Amino acid sequence: MSHQLLKGKKGIISGALDERSIAWKTALACVAEGAEIVLTNAPIAMRMGKINELAKLCNCPVIPADATNIADIENLMQKSMEHFGGKMDFILHSIGMSPNVRKSIAYTNTNYENFLKTLDISALSFHRFLQTAMKLDAINEWGSVVALSYIAAQRTFPGYNDMADAKAVMESIARSFGYSYGFAKKVRVNTISQSPTVTTAGSGVSGFDVFLHYADITSPLGNASAEDCANYCVMLFSDYTRMVTMQNLFHDGGFSNTGVSHLIVEEIMAGNKVEE
Ligand code: NAI
Repeated sequence: MSHQLLKGKKGIISGALDERSIAWKTALACVAEGAEIVLTNAPIAMRMGKINELAKLCNCPVIPADATNIADIENLMQKSMEHFGGKMDFILHSIGMSPNVRKSIAYTNTNYENFLKTLDISALSFHRFLQTAMKLDAINEWGSVVALSYIAAQRTFPGYNDMADAKAVMESIARSFGYSYGFAKKVRVNTISQSPTVTTAGSGVSGFDVFLHYADITSPLGNASAEDCANYCVMLFSDYTRMVTMQNLFHDGGFSNTGVSHLIVEEIMAGNKVEE
């Protein structure tokens, strides 16, 4: 279903670990729509993941960068511009990790060193990408930067832990940086708030299967898949969304505006009632 929406456009896609990653699907979708891309991920993910397989499919280079390291990000942007022979048009930030989630440390008993790492990797890295791109003037006018978020930034989901705080910070960065980047260079900055999706990062959240099912039967359209999310990213990188910036855009089949669905009620009536 290619419409060459990104023909002639160039961009960086971060966060493709394996074929389940939202970034993996987005990289394939961008290339199918005519874009030229550079892939990036943390050096450790290069060894553990399958990014080199994806690079072959996309016929593109991989430039490792730890999203918490400013020198790595500068190198990534500079090398990407050398590869493209000029500035780029889009960047996908698809990076998240919480040591507290990974180690099953409860939110009410947090480890603050871990908490700072969560914020650094999952939220401040977005600022780092934007600040470095702006300093190096790496993005063409009307370019587009997108990061992936989750509704736990607005509402509480037990188990999402300190990632909820990281997402809230990230969404705020999209507004604050979007303001400055818009005035300075007409670059737009948005976050997509995606349905729960089965990936390495997603599955790390405790009780993930249950809230995936809950979201699916709450949402009138069901959960949005990673492929759907990739298509939404393509649209946000395209010229069809030139005037969209500083937004957190829900891509969740209607979940965010639904209180309760008849399917949830039916499940409870059928005897799955949870004892308080
Ligand atoms: P994933 O595990 O495939 O992707 C996360 C990526 O972050 C990995 O490629 C990992 O290597 C990278 N990363 C971790 N630390 C890094 C660092 N220091 N430097 C550079 N990269 C680093 O999982 P997924 O689900 O595709 O995650 C992508 C984004 O989507 C994340 O921001 C996640 O929070 C967000 N998201 C995921 C949802 C889900 O249910 N899977 C729902 C809503 C948002």
